[in-house]
Amino acid sequence: MPTLPHILMCPPVHYGIEYEINPWMSTARQSNHKLACVQWESLRQILLDTGAQVSEVSPVAGLPDLVFTANAAIVFGQRAVLARFKHEQRQGEEPHFRSWLEEHGWQVDESPEDFSFEGAGDALFCGDTLYAGYRQRSDASGHQQIGEMLGVRVLPLELVDAYYYHLDTCFCPLSPEEAIYFPAAFDDYGQRVLAKSIPKLHAVEESEARSFACNAVVVGKTVVTNSGCPKLHALLRSFGYDPIETPLSEFVKAGGSAKCLTLRLDGEEAAGWKGQS
Ligand code: ARG
Repeated sequence: MPTLPHILMCPPVHYGIEYEINPWMSTARQSNHKLACVQWESLRQILLDTGAQVSEVSPVAGLPDLVFTANAAIVFGQRAVLARFKHEQRQGEEPHFRSWLEEHGWQVDESPEDFSFEGAGDALFCGDTLYAGYRQRSDASGHQQIGEMLGVRVLPLELVDAYYYHLDTCFCPLSPEEAIYFPAAFDDYGQRVLAKSIPKLHAVEESEARSFACNAVVVGKTVVTNSGCPKLHALLRSFGYDPIETPLSEFVKAGGSAKCLTLRLDGEEAAGWKGQS
């Protein structure tokens, strides 16, 4: 029986641009707090309207990026491999995500020591394969060990552009054999790996990639993105998807958008190999 889509979010009560750990962030370009709250709430409502269950982890003062729950962990059935953040500014998030996951019934495993790992921001299933972004935030060797822990095939992809520092900023699986991506965020080898392993792979243009087109939340046939991605939306419609745009400008200032603000807890990405059981 298919499980209900279940998504983890964190209200942006303490969200703001308090440090700079990616090229999108500038403490001189603050987010508008009220607008951020409105935008976050709209995203949450859209996800609820798709029929998803949305759970919330409590916000914590001093952890402004806790809103980006995609980075908490990678969830695999009832197991979760916890993030080990590269930057110390985000390392304080780890115990909060751990407690929430444990309190809600997940078996939480540490990610391999000595390697940074930023959860579903850098590790995404497409079919039975875990696509794993490395170099900017997560380490390739760590990904391989996580693949062994979970018993899944890992295809590491080097991220070559600092603006696309997490895999979910430039790659988004839509179904077990279909995905969108921004080619220039990968080296030639990574582009070939993607083209060879994903039967239906669609490129996103640079101007829309810059609007975080690839940072989409997929719930069944619904694909939710930041506004400003009309070409991608037209393409998605032509392939039978139902794209929805919602403005997320205040989160783009921190280098994040729709997908970053969510963590899929029911492992839908792995539905292909789980046989929807
Ligand atoms: N400011 C956050 C960081 O640099 C943004 C995280 C975005 N998350 C994502 N899954 N891409 O870590």
